[in-house]
Amino acid sequence: MSQAGKDEAATPSNNSVCEPTKVDELQYVNYGDQKESQYLSAIRQLISQDLSEPYSIYVYRYFLYQWGDLCFMALDSSAKLIGVIVCKLEPHRGGPMRGYIAMLATRASHRGQGIASKLVRMAIEKMIEKDADEIALETEVDNEPSLRIYARLGFLRTKRLHRYYLNGNTAFRLVLYLKPGIPYQPTYPPEYGGPADGGGGAGLLEEDLFARQATQLQLEDVESERHDVTGGNVYR
Ligand SMILES: CC(C)(COP(=O)(O)OP(=O)(O)OC[C@H]1O[C@@H](n2cnc3c(N)ncnc32)[C@H](O)[C@@H]1OP(=O)(O)O)[C@@H](O)C(=O)NCCC(=O)NCCS
Repeated sequence: MSQAGKDEAATPSNNSVCEPTKVDELQYVNYGDQKESQYLSAIRQLISQDLSEPYSIYVYRYFLYQWGDLCFMALDSSAKLIGVIVCKLEPHRGGPMRGYIAMLATRASHRGQGIASKLVRMAIEKMIEKDADEIALETEVDNEPSLRIYARLGFLRTKRLHRYYLNGNTAFRLVLYLKPGIPYQPTYPPEYGGPADGGGGAGLLEEDLFARQATQLQLEDVESERHDVTGGNVYR
């Protein structure tokens, strides 16, 4: 996820300005299967605060309608949304079952207290329960808090995506391999999802397909992929 205003939002000095709220006052809950839940607009609002390219409501619905069980929220004692993680899980180009962390945000007043780390752990546990082979995401190369969270959990930097975001910022693709041998499992080009989807790219929104293809065009600038050669399960 690309972020905007991150210098202002992520600096320790910003954290110290706000009165910190104790983590133990928060409850962590699953978004579940209520499609238009009371939290949908709060999630959209929280995430769009830090985005340089706000997503349309359809993007949120795309994730939450299908993978509400992979969305976790931190709520304060008055049920106000403090943090959220939004994910999906599906076969990646006819290859591994890939979990994808699409969005992660903590309210600026509550950062640096381990809230995002806990949300990421909850999402990872759920994806493992659902037999994910790997978990991927993109984050800006200078998003230190995000990079720290994922590095601590064993995610590897597999690609550098030059000017990945619309604002021109560059991203790292981070991947957590959950099973041995997964980095070597074959995948197919984006327009051909492999034998499993009949070659039609099933499951992809059309714009998603376009976005992936546009990304493919940028991959010439990308550093070559690095794998965990042990194929080991770094997370566990
Ligand atoms: C990234 C984000 C979700 C982190 O939320 P959080 O609840 O503060 O995260 P945590 O408290 O679990 O952990 C943050 C880690 O970053 C570190 N950190 C915090 N601010 C930092 C800064 N300015 N520079 C470097 N590290 C920083 C913390 O020390 C902590 O690492 P540690 O546990 O090794 O000490 C939050 O900053 C945010 O919402 N940012 C805007 C949206 C965004 O960038 N999302 C991620 C896109 S993929």
